Amino acid sequence: MTNQTDNVEKELERLRSLISDYNYQYYVLDDPSVPDAEYDRLYRELTKLESQYPELITDDSPTQRVGAKPDSGFEEVVHELPMLSLDNAMDEEEMVSFNRRVSERLNTTDDIEYVCEPKLDGLAISLLYENGILTRAATRGDGMQGENITLNARTIRSIPLKLRTNKPPERLEVRGEVFMLKSSFEALNEEARKRGAKLFANPRNAAAGSLRQLDPQITAKRNLSFYAYSMGLVSDDFELADSHYERLQQIKTLGLPLSAEVKIAQGIGACLEYYQDIMQRRDSLEYEIDGVVNKVNSIQLQERLGFVARAPRWAIAHKFPAQEEMTQLLGVDFQVGRTGAITPVARLEPVSVGGVTVSNATLHNMDEIERLGVKINDYVIIRRAGDVIPQVVSVIHDRRPDAVSDIRAPRQCPVCASPVERAEGEAVMRCTGGLICSSQRNESIKHFASRKAMDIDGLGDKLVEVLTQKGFVKSVSDLFRVNKEQLVSLERMGDKSAENLLKALEASKATTLPKFLYALGIREVGEVTAKNIANHFLTIDAITKASEEELESVSDVGPIVAQHVHAFFDNDDNLQQIQSLIELGVHWPAIERKSDDELPLKGKTYVITGSFDGVSRTEIKEKLEALGAKVSGSVSKKTTALIAGEKAGSKLSKAEALGIDVLGEEFLEELD
Ligand code: IVH
Repeated sequence: MTNQTDNVEKELERLRSLISDYNYQYYVLDDPSVPDAEYDRLYRELTKLESQYPELITDDSPTQRVGAKPDSGFEEVVHELPMLSLDNAMDEEEMVSFNRRVSERLNTTDDIEYVCEPKLDGLAISLLYENGILTRAATRGDGMQGENITLNARTIRSIPLKLRTNKPPERLEVRGEVFMLKSSFEALNEEARKRGAKLFANPRNAAAGSLRQLDPQITAKRNLSFYAYSMGLVSDDFELADSHYERLQQIKTLGLPLSAEVKIAQGIGACLEYYQDIMQRRDSLEYEIDGVVNKVNSIQLQERLGFVARAPRWAIAHKFPAQEEMTQLLGVDFQVGRTGAITPVARLEPVSVGGVTVSNATLHNMDEIERLGVKINDYVIIRRAGDVIPQVVSVIHDRRPDAVSDIRAPRQCPVCASPVERAEGEAVMRCTGGLICSSQRNESIKHFASRKAMDIDGLGDKLVEVLTQKGFVKSVSDLFRVNKEQLVSLERMGDKSAENLLKALEASKATTLPKFLYALGIREVGEVTAKNIANHFLTIDAITKASEEELESVSDVGPIVAQHVHAFFDNDDNLQQIQSLIELGVHWPAIERKSDDELPLKGKTYVITGSFDGVSRTEIKEKLEALGAKVSGSVSKKTTALIAGEKAGSKLSKAEALGIDVLGEEFLEELD
């Protein structure tokens, strides 16, 4: 070897090892030490050098994660040690009996030490490292035999291609779960919805579908994650710790990520507390979990307990109440939204899902109905997760009754009978009636009154419907024309409530330009876009006169948004409404373009979590933004500080793990 290649090799090694360190800090320690830009720079440098010396590219180089598509399907892999499943406990009573069985078998009355882990809702895989190198990844399959998915597992950035040790064991098998973050899942489905393509029912299906792609390039784009939860086969040259918890730490030291929620619990009581705590925080976790796995910590005790059938006696999954249930689809209604979009809504035989009765679920659009192959009277699986609208996930074809009927798309708006149009390449049907459609009108008025828009206290959806039904309100400006006489004539509206509503209407007239613009309900104009447009043009006059081209120069405004905004202000009825609203007293302070020294928080990014005494998170957000700061929804290494109130949950733990400043209520006082 020449001197020069010798040097290049050293440099390649240096870059690879730095990149691997940064990956480890990011994915395993959750504590990155360099900004993304530095990581990217090193990565580009490595790619460049490798392209000059392709003969020096190694298989474990971070540039080699995405390989070529294999010619045929996945090969079968026989697991040398079977991948077991877990027994389930559906409630506390079953957990208590599990603990009793464990204690009796071990002949002890002492508290048993358990490890509590989130039951990750993804799919189990096995990773085999031979002499420190990832040589094989396999799905669990039926526990005995799975599929070889090595090429796909290599694309998952949190799975190291090489263990972080100078003395790797001959063989070490790590087991864990591949899953998709809720945010990646939402983004994937959002994008598919826009294209009218197939949607995934839940993050687990999305993870499974992505891992079982034959083309690793597709898997690489899906942003999958991995957490380890146990070891499989380990060669004798590796000194294993004698508790499960310490073994997990050994895995972590070798470079594989664990969930930050893994905790030791002394006794069944602590396990049940852990369960309650994590169930409460379930919706704010970044990934889906469907329960808690409790494992006896001592390996010696695990060995004494042994296995029954295909599950260990020393572990149990304490499941959360189901988020999916079966019910019958009784019919489909078509709802017309504020922008005319027509959404098919499933009317269901009411069913309780995780304690809440569900009788409606969204079917999104006609493409989705076709994809599901659903017909009226079918038995369907519905899913309700967190505060998301319940959805129809799938059809149980085996249970299809004899009398089913097709779901037909309406040709006319079900509310105003105007023709329905469906633009080329779009999945959404729209009513072309505009404001002659009472549904579009009602929905626009509800939007106008809503909290993030004009924030008319006490004017909820139901009341808007009554007011429009009675003919008191036909447009948004009519809201400011209703009088006390009209209000008290309504059912269940006393003198006092009428007065309160009138006061709230009056108070709402003092608004801001961004809120007013958002309240108008222009298609594709959400809160952020409204704010950007307002801050760019400063006055409503300038906005109404802006050309599509000028609109496109606003940050985050593309040609489609610009077109919708322009079309809105090109319409005389809309301009008339704005005029009337202003005449009726709607006003806002002039926006002054602030110089940088008036924006002391410019360039800073905050995250707000928990609850605060006497002030809402929205108010804090507005205050910070007025001082030039950005407010983001999730903690990352770019966060300047987390502002944490009472009952702060996972965001607080993440900020602490990332070493990000945490500020309390005192900070808010400083802002005044
Ligand atoms: S341990 C012998 N730990 O649950 C124990 N499994 O029903 C084997 N799972 O196939 C599994 N999170 O896909 C274990 N923290 C966790 C888990 C977990 C999710 C899944 C895994 C397994 C299934 C067993």
